[in-house]
Amino acid sequence: MSSPAKSPTVLTCKAAVAWGPGEPLAMEYVQVDPPKSMEIRIKVFCSSLCRSDVTQWESKAQPSLFPRIFGHEASGVVESVGEGLTEFEVGDHVLTVFIGECQRCKHCVSGRSNMCQKLGLERNGFMHTDQKTRFSIEGRPVYHYCAVSSFSEYTVVHSGCAVKISKDTPMDRVCLLSCGVAAGLGAVSKVADVSEGSTVVIFGLGTVGLSVAQAAKLRGASQIIGVDTNPHKFEKGKAFGVTSFINPNDCDEPIPQAIKRLTDGGADYAFECIGDTGAVSTALQSCSDAWGVTVSLGVPKANPEVSVHYGLLLSGKTLKGSLFGGWRPKTDLPSLVLKYMEKEIHLEDFVTHDITFDNINEAFNLMKEGDCLRCVIHMEN
Ligand SMILES: NC(=O)c1ccc[n+]([C@@H]2O[C@H](COP(=O)([O-])OP(=O)(O)OC[C@H]3O[C@@H](n4cnc5c(N)ncnc54)[C@H](O)[C@@H]3O)[C@@H](O)[C@H]2O)c1
Ligand SMILES: [Zn+2]
Ligand SMILES: [Zn+2]
Repeated sequence: MSSPAKSPTVLTCKAAVAWGPGEPLAMEYVQVDPPKSMEIRIKVFCSSLCRSDVTQWESKAQPSLFPRIFGHEASGVVESVGEGLTEFEVGDHVLTVFIGECQRCKHCVSGRSNMCQKLGLERNGFMHTDQKTRFSIEGRPVYHYCAVSSFSEYTVVHSGCAVKISKDTPMDRVCLLSCGVAAGLGAVSKVADVSEGSTVVIFGLGTVGLSVAQAAKLRGASQIIGVDTNPHKFEKGKAFGVTSFINPNDCDEPIPQAIKRLTDGGADYAFECIGDTGAVSTALQSCSDAWGVTVSLGVPKANPEVSVHYGLLLSGKTLKGSLFGGWRPKTDLPSLVLKYMEKEIHLEDFVTHDITFDNINEAFNLMKEGDCLRCVIHMEN
């Protein structure tokens, strides 16, 4: 006779905890609650470090949200399933996603939005369902980040913020599709809908910007101009399709003027992938009158307001933005994973470092110093 399945209980595991803004993460034993209804608990396999983790970790804007566990680009295995949930089984392989898809709200059913009204970007350090945390250290709550918190051996996520993947998908690379690479790919193919033969300028050649380049090349863009203050990024960018490079520090004319000169009047599409609202204005100035489209992807560290001369908009240019490239996690992410498996899109080239969980602070240092694209953190050494 088979014994009834045991209910999951609180477990204790290692997590990299941020105790204050910009303070090195400390490896702590944390208690992780069992998943509630509609939630799953995941054994994290790999988690790559995204610039948004670093920006939020350094930010002093929400000092009360510490101690906190960052991390959101992750792959893992379902360890336990909340009561009544049938979508997932123990042992399923999954990707976490920082914005969910409930598949029921007005935005989810519209078919043209990934701004789920129920599982949108969680900014308060809690789980969506009950505005509480599932982590604690000896009874003291530890806050979540984007309702994912993958810098922990185990984490709890809402089932709407996880996507099942096939067991033969390389978990240590596909985690990049959990955020940054997918954001860049979608900005090109879904948000801007870049057309063949068009000219593209990308501000910031990190993982997000280079992912834009990869997608623009796939779309057959005739010119892909990269703008970056790090001189090493041009060589790196060439491999992703960047055809010319401007370093603002070495450029003796205003950037929009240089781009207009190179593109006969302005780029068809401009992408802001730095996280600098000043660059959003420069991007809009650099794209063509009438049909020029600027897509803003960056998450600013400071000055959240964008300032643009109204004349730019009257001339017909469009300014838009997107989270996660406009992809709906459950509906769209499986097809991106398939494209990776069929080698239509490449993830390997973005991985500059593989790091053990115990050395997670090294990944933060590398990103702060601008010496990496993606560092993949392996939870099991
Ligand atoms: N919209 C989304 O869904 C989404 C998803 C992931 C990341 N992001 C955001 O996108 C941005 C890029 O992320 P990333 O992981 O590629 O970051 P990254 O730090 O790896 O890349 C940023 C690049 O910008 C360059 N740069 C910095 N300041 C510059 C300046 N003044 N002029 C020109 N270049 C400059 C850097 O040298 C670097 O190459 C971040 O703001 C991140 O938070 C957004
Ligand atoms: Zn929804
Ligand atoms: Zn991210």
